[in-house]
Amino acid sequence: MHNFQPDLNIDITDIVKKFSTPLFIYSVYEIKNRIIELQGALPAESSLLYSVKANANPFVLNLFNQAGLGFEVASVGELQHVINANIHADRIVLGGPIKSKEAILLGIQNNILLYNVESEQDLQNIASASTQCLNISIRVNPDFSNRNSVLKMGGVSSQFGIDEDKVIPLIRNYKNKVNINGLFMYAGSQFFDAQDIIQNTSFLIEFAEKHIDEFDHLDYLDFGGGFGVAETEGQLELNMNILKTGLADLFTRKKQFLDSVKCKFFESGRYLTATGAILVSKVLDIKYSKGKKFILLDTGINHLGIKQFQNKKPITFIRPLKEYQHYSPAILTGATCTPIDIIQNEVDFPDVSIDDLVLIDNVGAYTTTLSPHNFCGFTYPPEVAVDDSGCVLLIRERGGIENSCGMGYK
Ligand SMILES: Cc1ncc(COP(=O)(O)O)c(C=O)c1O
Repeated sequence: MHNFQPDLNIDITDIVKKFSTPLFIYSVYEIKNRIIELQGALPAESSLLYSVKANANPFVLNLFNQAGLGFEVASVGELQHVINANIHADRIVLGGPIKSKEAILLGIQNNILLYNVESEQDLQNIASASTQCLNISIRVNPDFSNRNSVLKMGGVSSQFGIDEDKVIPLIRNYKNKVNINGLFMYAGSQFFDAQDIIQNTSFLIEFAEKHIDEFDHLDYLDFGGGFGVAETEGQLELNMNILKTGLADLFTRKKQFLDSVKCKFFESGRYLTATGAILVSKVLDIKYSKGKKFILLDTGINHLGIKQFQNKKPITFIRPLKEYQHYSPAILTGATCTPIDIIQNEVDFPDVSIDDLVLIDNVGAYTTTLSPHNFCGFTYPPEVAVDDSGCVLLIRERGGIENSCGMGYK
């Protein structure tokens, strides 16, 4: 399990004195490292898009911008975030199962690179919004399904993409009306077997090759990704060496065809950001109820969000800051007023005391963007980043209570 603290030599207690808890701490070093790791495993002739849904903090977006990544956005809000972060329009791809008029118009006004289309309605909405020649990719929902994805988004009946057998009829129907010059596939998230990602990439290349005559020109192939990050017990990290070798072999075999396609994309959100942040919380209460020990923290479901429900097994990346000699079975909970606010079910946990600090690792992805921060009138924690030289920068202020409900009504 990733744990950036020893690498950085940062004094968490000191940071907490200044910013209090709960608090997100990001490691610039770790995020930069993940970019290098993932880019190192992908074929040199491909480009990487950062999926903004994983983490939309402007500081984080800026790190990916500086590293030269493209950006995959899935709503008008995400599109606005990347425009605000000064991301160049020719590095922005707009996706999402059905795009709003506002998202399409903002994309057109800013001249973004590409639209990933997921249905005939989606295609019509984009086509009718502009007389310009926009770049359009069709998202394919393949007939085959990967065995191992935790979050399947392809190969199954779904709201995403267009079923494989309907893709070519759709392209034929719209030929000479719109500029369909790309294909896209995103089969799922959290793949831990590199073979699944290689299989998906191979499928899209072969599908494109087989149907190449249907296109005036095929400029964009987006293979998606789903690069997994272990979050629970028993999940093995994705083997980047197998991924690298498999993708390199595939790209070598298909070199002639792939050379004719201008841009080859992969997408990632989780792999790039998950390990880049920890959540620091404080023990507020320790109590015993009907024979069980409960440790109540000042963070929980309101900051950890959907992570709490996705995993059938308990998360394994929670630990106190200090070392302890004694452990006992305990249930870790948040402080919101709901019985579903369980962070960790009964496990042997160090015998912490009130006010001790507890760290939750791997919270850089789908945590700040996928949490009910305002539940029970709570607000979002501040976010700080430790840069390469050890400086601590405030990158998001603590949310105010006035923002935690629909204020404004008098
Ligand atoms: C279309 C698309 N691209 C990229 C991603 C990012 O996935 P991950 O964060 O697992 O890399 C998602 C996640 O749901 C997605 O739906």
